[in-house]
Amino acid sequence: MTRCNHENNDFAKGVGWTPPEQITCHLETERLIVRSYTPDDTQAMFDAVNESRDGHLLPWMCHWADKGHRTIEDSTKYICEQHLALQNSATFSDVGTGIFEKSTGRFIGGSGIHDVRRATASCETGYWIRRDALGNGYALEASERTVSWALQSQDAGGLGLNRVRLYCSGSNPHSERVIDQLGITREVEQREDYFIPTIGLTTRLGWGVLAREWDCTNHCALKP
Ligand SMILES: CC(C)(COP(=O)(O)OP(=O)(O)OC[C@H]1O[C@@H](n2cnc3c(N)ncnc32)[C@H](O)[C@@H]1OP(=O)(O)O)[C@@H](O)C(=O)NCCC(=O)NCCS
Repeated sequence: MTRCNHENNDFAKGVGWTPPEQITCHLETERLIVRSYTPDDTQAMFDAVNESRDGHLLPWMCHWADKGHRTIEDSTKYICEQHLALQNSATFSDVGTGIFEKSTGRFIGGSGIHDVRRATASCETGYWIRRDALGNGYALEASERTVSWALQSQDAGGLGLNRVRLYCSGSNPHSERVIDQLGITREVEQREDYFIPTIGLTTRLGWGVLAREWDCTNHCALKP
């Protein structure tokens, strides 16, 4: 996404980022825990997606909310895949994580590290919140912490990446607002580059933040 067809993404080239040998995700914020999935999360994830799919996750998250999690077996498979994604750091490129309310332990949505590009030490992140947990600022809170995880040094428990990207459709104002609130740089506006089912061609909006622009202790953008 948003890269040149001729770019060299050979793992051996570029800045040659490699992941930590052991990748674990257990992040805390004031109200949330963002962590790797376990098999015990399967039913909760299945329920959350099914309660939230129509008119909420769709049309925005069509790549997995439409076809995925239609059966409990789909959710089991998804959670196994996320678990496996963390087992072999040599192939690590993408993992979904769950967002849980700290006070209740309730599963309220998903986040993750996606499309890791070793040549540029960069990744994408994203989020969704189940329908009945909307309006609490949870996506912003989870995203701030996830960006810190991505950009924090490996010695300090982070992934040690240099850049995080976030994208949304220009027709998704709720998502646009979340990313705007991160206070990072809006870099991309690609017209008619993002097809959203039921809407059609929309503008792709993209933001990026570099490690030197982010405060991984306070989980916020550094003031320029
Ligand atoms: C984008 C999203 C994660 C934001 O959720 P959130 O963290 O709960 O959003 P906020 O807490 O900032 O909500 C602020 C306000 O917008 C409202 N809102 C947020 N998302 C909404 C939605 N999808 N539909 C209607 N209203 C919504 C909230 O109810 C709240 O209203 P209020 O101020 O009157 O209380 C959520 O809308 C979502 O999961 N959307 C579907 C998946 C998606 O688009 N993911 C991003 C793909 S790029």
